[in-house]
Amino acid sequence: MIITTAPRPSERINEQVRKLAAELSAKAIPRRNASIQKLLDMSDDNRVIIATEKEVRFYDNANEPPLYFHPSMAYVRVKRLRRGETDPLIELSGCSIGDHIIDCTAGMAADSLVFSYAVGEQGRVEALESEPILCALVREGLASYESGLPDVDAAMKRIHLSCKNHAHYLANLPNKSADIVYFDPMFRQPIMESSAISAFRTIANMDALSAEVVEHAVRVARKTVVIKENQRSGEFERLGFKRTHANTSKIAYGVIHVGSA
Ligand SMILES: C[S@@+](CC[C@H](N)C(=O)[O-])C[C@H]1O[C@@H](n2cnc3c(N)ncnc32)[C@H](O)[C@@H]1O
Repeated sequence: MIITTAPRPSERINEQVRKLAAELSAKAIPRRNASIQKLLDMSDDNRVIIATEKEVRFYDNANEPPLYFHPSMAYVRVKRLRRGETDPLIELSGCSIGDHIIDCTAGMAADSLVFSYAVGEQGRVEALESEPILCALVREGLASYESGLPDVDAAMKRIHLSCKNHAHYLANLPNKSADIVYFDPMFRQPIMESSAISAFRTIANMDALSAEVVEHAVRVARKTVVIKENQRSGEFERLGFKRTHANTSKIAYGVIHVGSA
């Protein structure tokens, strides 16, 4: 993989590229005037990361939009929480101020951001992402994104994101050491095939959640273990979750109340 900058980078961006190259075992090169297609052709695995003043972008196809961190729907959901309205995930999980959340499938950290806002400064959100490229894009984005709302930016910066596989991480945690353990694995059947989602799917971990991981989650959680899935998915039954329809038509949450599990 190649890592480079936008044309005419600042010293801060050059330094960011050097660090990302070391972290991702990629080759840092000067941009000069190379087009995205030329950079992709030069890369041994047809993958390119470009650091700009605004964000870090991942490309694997010059004709498709790059992947980069953006709070997107999470921003809309957090704005609802700011107005005193509820969010289905926060409600169903029983999340409250001060809670400790383990988001086992960070992805673009949208759900982590909603949790982080909801638990506030007294709470803690640990977000685990197994894939190093995704982890790097999102970590850099969470650290620098400016939404225009200081409390939302602070909630982004409070997320503890780490590049870890949840299977190993949960297996080594003590009993009842977090309030909520959350999973949003890649859907077996994608709901929509937009080009941005297809870029995401090329670098995401597509493994199904295992029953053993859910057992550990039940052991670790004090309140609930929650999964998000395609509404018609058989994963709820396979993994022992009670399916609960969310307000949207296509996804559902599954909840295990640990006290009654
Ligand atoms: C559907 S996305 C999660 C989206 C996320 N909830 C959000 O709001 O942006 C699933 C993510 O979990 C990651 N993942 C899958 N299996 C994992 C594992 N065993 N450990 C850590 N991360 C995992 C994938 O790489 C992917 O980024």
